[in-house]
Amino acid sequence: MKALILSGGKGTRLRPITYTGAKQLVPVANKPILWYGIEAIVAAGITEIGIIISPETGDEVKNKTGDGSQFGAKITYILQDLPLGLAHAVKIAQPFLGDSPFVMYLGDNLIADRLDGYLATFKSEQLDALILLRQVSNPSAFGVAKVDEMGRVVQLVEKPKEPPSNLALVGIYFFTTAIHEAIASIKPSPRGELEITDAIDALIQEGNPVGARELEDWWLDTGKKDDLLEANRILLDTRIKHKNVLGEIDSESKVIGRVEIGAGSTVKNSTIRGPVIIGSNCQIENCFIGPYSSIADEVILLDADMEHSVLLKGAKVIGIHQRIVDSLIGQRVRLEVAPYRPKALRFTIGDDSHIELV
Ligand code: DAU
Repeated sequence: MKALILSGGKGTRLRPITYTGAKQLVPVANKPILWYGIEAIVAAGITEIGIIISPETGDEVKNKTGDGSQFGAKITYILQDLPLGLAHAVKIAQPFLGDSPFVMYLGDNLIADRLDGYLATFKSEQLDALILLRQVSNPSAFGVAKVDEMGRVVQLVEKPKEPPSNLALVGIYFFTTAIHEAIASIKPSPRGELEITDAIDALIQEGNPVGARELEDWWLDTGKKDDLLEANRILLDTRIKHKNVLGEIDSESKVIGRVEIGAGSTVKNSTIRGPVIIGSNCQIENCFIGPYSSIADEVILLDADMEHSVLLKGAKVIGIHQRIVDSLIGQRVRLEVAPYRPKALRFTIGDDSHIELV
């Protein structure tokens, strides 16, 4: 069994964050989204992993993730010149996949369930494909399954205007080599992509054994800011179990509940109420940091209040005592308010940024 992780594509929905980086590397609870997928795959006993990368962000993904040894895996990077679809990615990965069955994992998806159980079902039921489904309120944004009275999947449609059900396809699939033939039989969709949804539908229509399971626990397709903040909230809640402070906290500060603080970080005259994760070499002074905040390495926070927010590496926030909430602040961003009542607002803001003074 091998694994194929898709970490190419364009990442338009997380702009402007993804102008300068791969969306799969955006951290959730201070760890790149992609790494959770790698860890889940390795935990299921699969160590031969191919990762699809794009020319724009491939080097960043490679440099950060390495050869896989840190995960106990062997990673092969596969360059996809253009984002021509999920099935196109499988096509170009054929030399890596050979005649092995494989799990395909979309690099921007996060699930709480372990993969072992699904892998066992895929093998024991001798399926050509096992898909995972989840009820959603906005099925038109996903691949959608039509099921019969017995709960069997009879048809799959990609992003239908009139969805036949509210069961969305989760971005994790198990395949035998039968999928390659199915991919060879499909044509690009109206959005110009070779859709894996169409290839699985072709398997179903040809009568190949295709199984489906509903996910038991949460699933996040972290394509947008609010999804990312939700993933961050859930992961901080489930993964930060204890207080673990490596940095220095002065006697005027209070660190309450499940809080992790990395080495070299200093906290002065501040209150931090968990669950919160703070990276290494951060400087925090006269601040309140409330629940569900993830602060990456080398962040500076002076005279600022925040909660339920994600700050990326090297961001600087100074003098903001209106509480910053539900925010995603990119790498090296500088957000500063003068200590006296400001008379003017002065901005240098990148394309597609969102600023809301509410
Ligand atoms: O998240 C689940 C959904 O993922 C499914 O319900 C849909 O059926 C499936 O088509 C897919 O839809 P998205 O529109 O969300 O896919 P997206 O373009 O975001 O790509 C998913 C991942 O695959 C992402 O990490 C980028 C990567 N990718 C995408 C394309 C189109 C590639 O590596 N190569 C590609 O050509």
